[in-house]
Order: sequence, then structure tokens, then C-alpha cells
Amino acid sequence: MGNVLAFVSIKGGVGKTTLALETATSLVKNFDKKVLLIDANFSAPNIGLYLDLTNDINLHDALEGTPVHNAIYECNGVDIILTSLHYKGDADTSKLKKIINKFKKRYDFIILDSSPNYEELKPVIAAADKIYLITSPDNVTLKTTLKAAKLAKEQNTPIEGIIVNKIRNPKHEFDLRTIEEMSEIPVLAKIKDHKKMAEALSKKIPITILDSRNVVAREVENFSSALCGISEGSNFFQRILPLKEFLGKEKVNRMILREKFYEDDYKI
Ligand SMILES: Nc1ncnc2c1ncn2[C@@H]1O[C@H](COP(=O)(O)OP(=O)(O)OP(=O)(O)O)[C@@H](O)[C@H]1O
Ligand SMILES: [Mg+2]
Repeated sequence: MGNVLAFVSIKGGVGKTTLALETATSLVKNFDKKVLLIDANFSAPNIGLYLDLTNDINLHDALEGTPVHNAIYECNGVDIILTSLHYKGDADTSKLKKIINKFKKRYDFIILDSSPNYEELKPVIAAADKIYLITSPDNVTLKTTLKAAKLAKEQNTPIEGIIVNKIRNPKHEFDLRTIEEMSEIPVLAKIKDHKKMAEALSKKIPITILDSRNVVAREVENFSSALCGISEGSNFFQRILPLKEFLGKEKVNRMILREKFYEDDYKI
């Protein structure tokens, strides 16, 4: 079962936590999946802050031997393991994979948020079945993000695709084709920089719940449906026009993701 998905980038602030949280919430809310979200950003964990959630028992305790089920708390239907806010670099993070393996069968998806720190990222990539790179469409962020791709390749963890987040001004930013050519990795979703995300952050409610019609929530839902292997709503024009000409590049890529879902190792 290839269901441990890590959202990674070596650049800070690109939206790893936001998209890990939104995808987990969307998989539960829109697709009725059982999801465990793990904050594996050891030195600067954020998920608790995003949800106004604190856990007495957390990932550090689990890494030190506390039974993992004690560290799981539920929020908005998503099971969540937080990380200590007082990390001193003392946890044996190489045990992450072992901890996750114990819980794999209980969940449709286990989603890992990660740190932009190279060393902290290594055990996360090792624990994951699939990597989703998060980048914004600018030269600096993309090139830095691709360092994470290199790390994943070195660790032989498959990279499923790129999510392009915080698209602000396409005139001055890379388009999807350029990103795919530079990275040789398919783009699976493109997400606008949207002012409503500030409201979601301040209210500590995922946009998927706060406003499911918001453009960010809808693209996260499209991506989540691809993860579940569910078709992305076909309308009349999609049916009568040649598919690739009609669909955007990222939709074609999501279709490939869906097709892969039905291959044996991706079934849940
Ligand atoms: N599509 C978006 N539109 C607008 N704001 C966004 C979007 N995605 C993320 N943000 C905002 O960007 C900021 C950084 O996001 P986030 O914390 O998810 O980044 P990160 O990659 O996890 O950062 P770090 O590397 O520090 O953990 C947050 O304020 C978040 O609300
Ligand atoms: Mg983060």
C-alpha cells in the first residue's frame, strides 16, 4: 500500500503545511477517507498553530517509546500527531518510518508535513512512499525545491509530482510547461495566492471547511480526488473534444495520477 505521502520543499514558506493540512481535510471531508496527518517538521512545527491544537503527548514522545496511539488527536475528522514545540535536536527521527509502518493499515492516507531543513527532511523522505514537491512558480523557489527532488531521488523515494502554489502574477512567473521541462516532473495542481488564506489562518480553520467554493479549496479538492482515483467531473465539452487538447496540462497529469491509482501497488 503506497499511502504515505510527504509534502516537501527545501524552501520555507511555500505552503507545505497549508497544503498537507488542506489535503488531509479534503480527503476526509470530501472523500470520506481515513487520514492521519503527522507534523514531521521537527524543529519548527506548525500544524498545532494552524488548528489551535496542543497535544500533551506528541511525535517526540512516540519516537522515545510512548505508544503512538496516545499521540493521536482528532481535529475536523483528521487524526493528527503533533510535534513538540520544544525540540532540542534530541529525537531519533530515523524511527519515524517504523512508527508509521505500525499504523499504515489503519489509514487510507498518512500525510507528512515536513521541514525545509535538509537534514530534518531525510527521515521524512525515507518514511514516505511518495513525494509531492511544493513550489511557487519563481526561479529561486523552484531551484531550491528541486534540491528536495534530488534528495528524494538519492533515497529512491518516488516523486509523484509538483504542486505549484502561491501563483501571483503569471506574466512574471514560470508557466507549468517550463516548470515541467526544468524539473522533468509533472505538475499535478496549480494554486493561486489567495487573500482568503489569511482569514483561514487567523480563524484557525482550513479553507476546505471555511469556504469550500474558494479557488484554493477547489483545486485542493481536485488534487485530493486524483489521490483517491475519482474522476474530476466531466462536462459536455470534455466529452466531445479531444481530451488532451481540451484539458489543461495539470488535469492531464492528474488523470495519469488517477490511472496509476488503479495499478496494484496504489490500491487502498
Ligand atoms: N495559496 C496560498 N495563498 C495565500 N497564502 C498562502 C497560500 N498557501 C500558503 N499560504 C500562506 O503562506 C504562509 C506560509 O505557508 P506554510 O506555513 O504552509 O508554508 P511552509 O512551506 O509550511 O513553511 P515552513 O517551511 O516554514 O514550514 C502562511 O501564512 C499561509 O497561510
Ligand atoms: Mg510548514
